[in-house]
Amino acid sequence: MGNAITIMFTNQKGGVGKTSTCLGLAEAFRYMGRKVLLVDCDPQANTTSSFQVDTDGIATLYDLIVNREPIENCIISNGDGIDILPGDKVLKAQEDMIGPEKITRLQHELKKVKNVYDYILIDTNPGTGFCVKASFAAADGAIIPLNFEKYAIDGLADVMRTMDSFRDLNEDFKLFGVLINKLDMRMGDQRQANDQFEKMNGQKMGDQILHVFDTKIRTDQTIPKAQTRDESIFENYKGSKAQQDFLALAEEFEEEIKNG
Ligand SMILES: Nc1ncnc2c1ncn2[C@@H]1O[C@H](COP(=O)(O)OP(=O)(O)O)[C@@H](O)[C@H]1O
Ligand SMILES: [Mg+2]
Repeated sequence: MGNAITIMFTNQKGGVGKTSTCLGLAEAFRYMGRKVLLVDCDPQANTTSSFQVDTDGIATLYDLIVNREPIENCIISNGDGIDILPGDKVLKAQEDMIGPEKITRLQHELKKVKNVYDYILIDTNPGTGFCVKASFAAADGAIIPLNFEKYAIDGLADVMRTMDSFRDLNEDFKLFGVLINKLDMRMGDQRQANDQFEKMNGQKMGDQILHVFDTKIRTDQTIPKAQTRDESIFENYKGSKAQQDFLALAEEFEEEIKNG
């Protein structure tokens, strides 16, 4: 255990599945016996609320960044294998007002707990604001969830450009992979887009080599259902497509890390 790999989930677009894939992968890693810290860097704090964490009166990511609260005082641990560094709606309100000198606070504080976890997963908001930048500085690399819809490739090019433009924040930042989410191969246009993506795999895009995970997350209504009910895919929806896909993704990820 220890020396965590820090992964941020990013895409400038909303609704592509950043939060869902972050949660799904966190659950899959836990299922495999890994110790996970979830960092809710999305100012909407969906991840935090899905774990029914009440941020009233407790220190959050906002306090860590703005009030220099040490990370130990912010992490919520209930011993179930996934710890949470809760987000805060105040972050959203004040994001534009946080000074640039705070950009490395998260990076700095996460270093202190890296030896406690196997994985640190950071859920981010759409756009390129303060929270996204702070996550770029703090993470080892990104998973980019993507949906096969119109302009998906344009969206991907945007994210890759953003990654290049934040390079000075973190020289070693890498693209772990593009994760196709909400795949429905019954749809002809999705099959077409999938073929197109297979061809792009391994090609250069900006400074990065494009890597697309073999594992795709299929469209599965279990995902929104579990979220609305604050349920666990791995406990309440065993055998679902979502559970199978997230487990396959976690295994593929570990295999990849092992092979460098
Ligand atoms: N594979 C999937 N199958 C079905 N619904 C999904 C899937 N992934 C995400 N969703 C749903 O799509 C919506 C947007 O996903 P979300 O993870 O919140 O996106 P983001 O964090 O990028 O804004 C949510 O309602 C979520 O439940
Ligand atoms: Mg989200």
